Amino acid sequence: MTSVRDHDDLPEVASVMDTRTDAMPQVESDSALDTVPDSGPPPPAPPPSPPLPPPPQTYPLPRIIAIANQKGGVGKTTTAVNLGACLAEIGFRTLIIDLDPQGNASTGLGIENRGLETSMYHVIMHEAPLENCIEPASVKNLFVAPSSLDLAGTEIELVPAFSRENRLKRAIEAVQDDYDYVLIDCPPSLGLLTVNGLTAATEVLVPIQCEYYALEGLGQLLRNVDLVRRNLNPTLTVSTIVCVMYDARTKLADQVVKEVREHFGDKVMRTVVPRTVRLSEAPSFGQPIITFDSSSRGAVAYRMVAKEVSASGTPRGTR
Ligand SMILES: Nc1ncnc2c1ncn2[C@@H]1O[C@H](COP(=O)(O)OP(=O)(O)O)[C@@H](O)[C@H]1O
Ligand SMILES: [Mg+2]
Repeated sequence: MTSVRDHDDLPEVASVMDTRTDAMPQVESDSALDTVPDSGPPPPAPPPSPPLPPPPQTYPLPRIIAIANQKGGVGKTTTAVNLGACLAEIGFRTLIIDLDPQGNASTGLGIENRGLETSMYHVIMHEAPLENCIEPASVKNLFVAPSSLDLAGTEIELVPAFSRENRLKRAIEAVQDDYDYVLIDCPPSLGLLTVNGLTAATEVLVPIQCEYYALEGLGQLLRNVDLVRRNLNPTLTVSTIVCVMYDARTKLADQVVKEVREHFGDKVMRTVVPRTVRLSEAPSFGQPIITFDSSSRGAVAYRMVAKEVSASGTPRGTR
């Protein structure tokens, strides 16, 4: 059987992920101290032992999370819409920024994105204020900045533009105090729109489909995150991996989850999102799963995803 390891070479995780997985500093063994002669300077105080485990990583609000994976159809938009709706349901003011010209996050939340006066295209290309295009969604506390098809042109139109990688970052800075969570639904590419998303974000969340070649292309994404971190956004970190479209009937799905956990450790969410028809039906009704079918397995799963995500957020004022 084709292994899910048939992916391009993944870079060493520690070098491209945040530092929370860094090992605790090694405590020198006592024997090293035994060799210090009696005369001369007093031996250094022994280090406290045993060392405490590192505290769980926490992130201050507002959190700006880019949902990225350059593969199409892996669950980015479904995760943006439903994680956003569930965070809003908990009570967090949440903004979903639709950065994909396809506009699936916008239409999936019932926003008609044809003929918009101001869309993400105008925000990115013409530096229109982001607040001019934000619309409330049907869930309390949930807001959407819709995209439109002309956003596709920005990949080329932006090339000669001044400060082209920072457009989204600057736009978000003007509104971020109004929100607890900003989720950026990235397009399925590693072009300038995704670079804008990664430059604006404080974290990256990567959905991984529990399918063949699940990890294929992930190395490229992680290298790009690393490039953006080194050149544009020094604090960017891949904080979260979520396995989605899990089909319990296949052995392969289990194998993918196992390999993803082996590779990415505690960055991988405990919650695994199942493949369910209701999740794929909800967007055509312009609704997130929690209003479309509140007690469905998909709704339960995304509520748990939102709980896990928000558990690592620290309230405002503790920054
Ligand atoms: N857990 C799931 N179960 C069933 N269908 C899903 C699930 N997640 C996503 N889908 C469907 O798969 C397709 C691709 O998902 P989408 O979120 O649009 O991916 P992306 O944004 O990465 O291109 C959509 O038709 C969506 O409704
Ligand atoms: Mg999408």
